[in-house]
Amino acid sequence: MAKRARGLSTVAVHAGERYDPSTGAVGTPIYQNSTFYYPRKPDGRGGWVANEDFIYTRYSNPTVRAAEEKFAALEGAEAGLCFASGMAAVSASNLAFVKPGETIVAQANIYGGTTSLFNREFQRLGINVAYAWDGSAEELAGLVDESTRVVYVEAPSNPFNHVVDLPKLRRMLDAKWGKRRPRILIDATTATPYNFRPLDHGADVAIHSATKYLNGHSDIIAGAVAGSRAAIAEIHPWLKSLGGSMDPHQAFLLRRGMTTLPLRMRRHNENGAAVARMLDGHGSVETVWYPTLSHHPSRLVARRLMKGFGSIVTFQLKTRRAAAARRFLESLELFAAAASLGGVESLASLPLETQHKLTPPAMRKQLGITPTLVRLAIGIEDAADLIADLEQALRRA
Ligand SMILES: Cc1ncc(COP(=O)(O)O)c(C=O)c1O
Repeated sequence: MAKRARGLSTVAVHAGERYDPSTGAVGTPIYQNSTFYYPRKPDGRGGWVANEDFIYTRYSNPTVRAAEEKFAALEGAEAGLCFASGMAAVSASNLAFVKPGETIVAQANIYGGTTSLFNREFQRLGINVAYAWDGSAEELAGLVDESTRVVYVEAPSNPFNHVVDLPKLRRMLDAKWGKRRPRILIDATTATPYNFRPLDHGADVAIHSATKYLNGHSDIIAGAVAGSRAAIAEIHPWLKSLGGSMDPHQAFLLRRGMTTLPLRMRRHNENGAAVARMLDGHGSVETVWYPTLSHHPSRLVARRLMKGFGSIVTFQLKTRRAAAARRFLESLELFAAAASLGGVESLASLPLETQHKLTPPAMRKQLGITPTLVRLAIGIEDAADLIADLEQALRRA
């Protein structure tokens, strides 16, 4: 009889867990060790067995492995890797597939830290980046040439929630390039495997800032990537050599956070949609970018590919006076004026002052990053309280 596939909530609780046989402790312990008996380890009965699993924590560690297995199971991937930060995951994953002189075709409308990596550090290494401004599958595929090794997208993109039509992009690349097609790397931080599993839709590698929803409590910086065993084997040397390895305590917190991912995401999705609806009809607001709204450019693709749309709600105030945006942030009582997203608490920030601070002014202008563009990262509080807080802050702005 075929084995029944388990639901995502069951996977979130059980996958990757290592119950400690020596104490019977339930839940994976923190193996806060830098090194392991090598090449042999005690077998617990006075003898020795080969230690093929663990050598040194920069390469791998049992608590980190537990987090990697849980994450890979959530993404429906053969394998996963954890990193010290989302940016360590983004940089190692790209460097695994692209060399100096080769090209990354990237969606322009993505997290500003990744844009900085591409525009500054990768440029110094001689890696070319060609940007797709509207981020459509047609535009991305059209930019690919013989030198392209990676097509890099983000879904939903931070901060505008654009969702690329991944199955279409994959079909177009397969049709034109066959086995020589570039790899599709996707930063799926804002989707999470609860809302969208990119590997099921044609991506080769799913990348996360696990700092965000995967951990969910704004208390660690972390990164994770998932893909086929072969893809992960190509990325692992870059993790080892660049040294962006996850610490065991960080892994413990991440694995604990992931056990409640489905529960938290249901609430994030509901709250995100409720806040977007309220802002969309508000007199002080010009535009809101959230995929449930009828004017959002990605609403049809998002509805086809995603189960929910997360809790990034970005809006443009009617005024362009920077002082008004400042006053809005300072008037918020429940929302903290802080960068980041995906935690249980709601945050508000101005992308111009945070993630897009280092983006060149011309690029910012083209992206629509104005002084009064506001990004909300909605937490899991009661939606009515969040809405009341936003309404009073908008009145004061
Ligand atoms: C979509 C996205 N990707 C990557 C990152 C970078 O992650 P980290 O800050 O964990 O290095 C961020 C951080 O905000 C992000 O929002």
